[in-house]
Amino acid sequence: MSERYVWKASFALGIPQVDEEHRAFLDLLNAVADAAVRAERVRFERAVADLRTYAEIHFAHEEQLFQAAACPGLARQRAEHALYVKRLRELVEAGDAKALLDFARSWLIEHILGSDRECAEWLRERRAPRPGDQRRA
Ligand SMILES: [Fe+2]
Ligand SMILES: [Fe+2]
Repeated sequence: MSERYVWKASFALGIPQVDEEHRAFLDLLNAVADAAVRAERVRFERAVADLRTYAEIHFAHEEQLFQAAACPGLARQRAEHALYVKRLRELVEAGDAKALLDFARSWLIEHILGSDRECAEWLRERRAPRPGDQRRA
């Protein structure tokens, strides 16, 4: 459980704010893992609280962004975000650090590479000028 979760180039979605937030998300996850390995209970609880708070902020940003772009994957985004919040709360209540870390990590990577990427691609396609588009000043 001591390995750090390393950011990979393949996680980048090409939306600077979202990529930056995903990196911060991973850093917070590492802080949780670190505290768990050292069995520092107070630090662990604080790190988990930070992770939960940050997740809510990040999800709100994404949902705003994807809603504004009318991303067809928005409903899936919302459902997955809600599932994460619910599951994390259950695992905090259960007090199982390993299960919490395993879930939080695999959820984050799968979500970034799945739904987040899908919406990021939608956003990029909408922004890219298409042949025949009128250029606006
Ligand atoms: Fe998301
Ligand atoms: Fe995300």
